[in-house]
Amino acid sequence: MKIKTFEQTDELDRYAADRFAGLLDAKPGAVLGLATGSTPIGIYEKIIAKHARGEISFRRATTFNLDEYVGLPPEHPQSYAYFMRDKLFGSIDLPPGGANIPSGVAADLAAECARYDRLLAERPIDLQLLGLGHNGHIGFNEPDHALQGGTHVVRLRENTREANARFFGSMDEVPKQAITMGIGSILKVRAILLVVKGADKAEIVRQALAGPITTECPASLLQTHADVTVLVDQAAGRLL
Ligand code: GLP
Repeated sequence: MKIKTFEQTDELDRYAADRFAGLLDAKPGAVLGLATGSTPIGIYEKIIAKHARGEISFRRATTFNLDEYVGLPPEHPQSYAYFMRDKLFGSIDLPPGGANIPSGVAADLAAECARYDRLLAERPIDLQLLGLGHNGHIGFNEPDHALQGGTHVVRLRENTREANARFFGSMDEVPKQAITMGIGSILKVRAILLVVKGADKAEIVRQALAGPITTECPASLLQTHADVTVLVDQAAGRLL
């Protein structure tokens, strides 16, 4: 694992955006793995700025998002489909159909998981952006005594629901389930950018990178991947 610590969030965001730009330059038809949450927003802003300057094009790219809340349609402001349109897709030239996000409102969720896994098998991800949950989750792979390899429906932990409640009107509105790419699919991608910001993530990022490899901290499994770059700001990296 390569760990890069940044004094300024702005520099971290620029570094990550440059990785995506470099990949698309070398391989315009690249397959990009994308994440939601507050962490990647600055990176998406930098990517949009690059696109506006004509430095980056997504015309031939394909994207896969990690996860989606069960029960939220794409037009719901807290759905990850809405987030991606709002924070990135609405401002770049990714063709309609180039973006893949699991549907949290599919009538048959098991079939939706199988459909997503088929798509992932057809188009291996070149570069996967990951954030880190406070409990060590990646995507929505929550700490557990066992983890699943493929796309699956997961019951969200209460601490995850509480962490994400800030985006909803009340705790009751936070979905109890999500559909997420599995750990096996994440570990199959060619390269990973794990991005962690803020003092409140310092302890979990230490556990993930320097602690034992355990399903109780799903991000610790990234220690087994051959090409992971971890980008931390000084606050998040202070215990490393
Ligand atoms: C969410 C997402 C994750 C994200 C994490 C951290 O629940 N499912 O993909 O990495 O929580 O979010 P944030 O970046 O807002 O701290």
